[in-house]
Amino acid sequence: MTTQIKHITVVGTGVIGNGWITRFLANGYRVTAFDVDPAAEGRMREAVKNAWPAMERAGLEEGASIDNLYFEQDLEVAVRNADFIQENVPEREALKRSVIAEIDQSAKKETIIASSTSGILPSTLQADCTENPERVMVAHPFNPVYLMPLVELVGGNATNPAFIDKAKEFYRACNMKPLVIRQEIEGHVADRLMEAIWREALHIVNDGVATTEEVDASIVYGPGLRWALMGPFLTLHMGGGKQGMRHLLEQFGPALKLPWTKLVAPELTDELAEKVISGCEQQTAGVNMDDLETRRDQFLIELQELLEKYWPAASLTGKL
Ligand SMILES: NC(=O)c1ccc[n+]([C@@H]2O[C@H](COP(=O)([O-])OP(=O)(O)OC[C@H]3O[C@@H](n4cnc5c(N)ncnc54)[C@H](O)[C@@H]3O)[C@@H](O)[C@H]2O)c1
Repeated sequence: MTTQIKHITVVGTGVIGNGWITRFLANGYRVTAFDVDPAAEGRMREAVKNAWPAMERAGLEEGASIDNLYFEQDLEVAVRNADFIQENVPEREALKRSVIAEIDQSAKKETIIASSTSGILPSTLQADCTENPERVMVAHPFNPVYLMPLVELVGGNATNPAFIDKAKEFYRACNMKPLVIRQEIEGHVADRLMEAIWREALHIVNDGVATTEEVDASIVYGPGLRWALMGPFLTLHMGGGKQGMRHLLEQFGPALKLPWTKLVAPELTDELAEKVISGCEQQTAGVNMDDLETRRDQFLIELQELLEKYWPAASLTGKL
């Protein structure tokens, strides 16, 4: 835990907000949550309770307790004493802008306001802040937030880099791998890459080339295994034999010009939606979502142990 940041406020307690809450609690912080939905508190406590055994297996920090969680029904009260604020309301630009502007009005001037947005630019999110837009940034996590280490940090035109440094230190103290993105672009970095695969996967299902299950198998038993250890660049570097990327580019470089990818997403027709939904339901037939979450969580814990064993810090430079 960092010494200056002790009390965190989480605004919006859906899938991602609850994931953050679990991670912050497990790292010994006190957390206040706010959500507009009256049923949110019950769902939040249930979600944290369900994820807690995974945190116990992964290792709790000193002072970590599920009892350090408070729910507040007034946004102004929820944020005014916070040392760090994580915003996770639905991905709608106008809503996020107004919620962030409201938080900016009530929070302490130096408190960082970090948005979990998957794709909206930080310059857009901070545009209506009149108190201190310098402390507004994107901090984009991955589901399940309590186990996935990556968080992408992106500053907007008005963000002061000193706040990015402070946020980086804070997320590190939460046992995460903060990656500072050099320029703001829609979708940041990882979501851009995932979007490209998602679009191609939809085309493949739409064109009847493979089912959802077959697409998943093509990743799980193929590139997914390698990607758990190395990203696309080093994976291909090793595909080039002793000469690495140099040989690979000589051999496959010209193929980049072939029209292999479609890039533009297919129309999400009712028929395609039904194919994708029923495909996923058939794949998971007989296994409920809670059971799937437990299996996924345990897998992620063991996978990260393997990653640390074979590839500490996931890079030889150790910069992350
Ligand atoms: N789901 C993912 O995999 C994922 C991954 C990374 C980032 N994100 C981002 O996280 C954010 C939240 O996504 P999610 O999947 O948790 O959404 P969600 O729909 O599960 O949760 C959103 C929550 O915000 C609450 N809410 C709505 N209006 C509010 C307001 N004015 N003030 C406070 N709370 C309000 C809702 O009641 C709900 O509980 C989005 O910006 C999304 O892009 C999502």
